Amino acid sequence: MKDNAESMADILEPFERLIDVEICGAKVQVPENNPILRCLQYLDIEKISNADLCWNGDCLNCQVWVKAGNKEKALIACRAKIEDGMKIVRMSPEIS
Ligand code: FES
Repeated sequence: MKDNAESMADILEPFERLIDVEICGAKVQVPENNPILRCLQYLDIEKISNADLCWNGDCLNCQVWVKAGNKEKALIACRAKIEDGMKIVRMSPEIS
């Protein structure tokens, strides 16, 4: 993971630590202070870098659904920041 952070230093927002999140049932650590989509890229640089994404809020191919109480809330992953303890329960096919 540390290697990922170093190789992505140019595209990640500055961060001090990794935070714990859950993605479709998997517990992972990702850089704080970054958009969700960058965190997904951090976890799988090949897949996200090669996906059909606009990175600017237009295409909605990056949509994810997070647990919010006992409901799900849709977020645009290139726009929404990751949060400590966030649970992503579904992702659009383009990034799954
Ligand atoms: S990547 Fe297109 S809306 Fe997020």
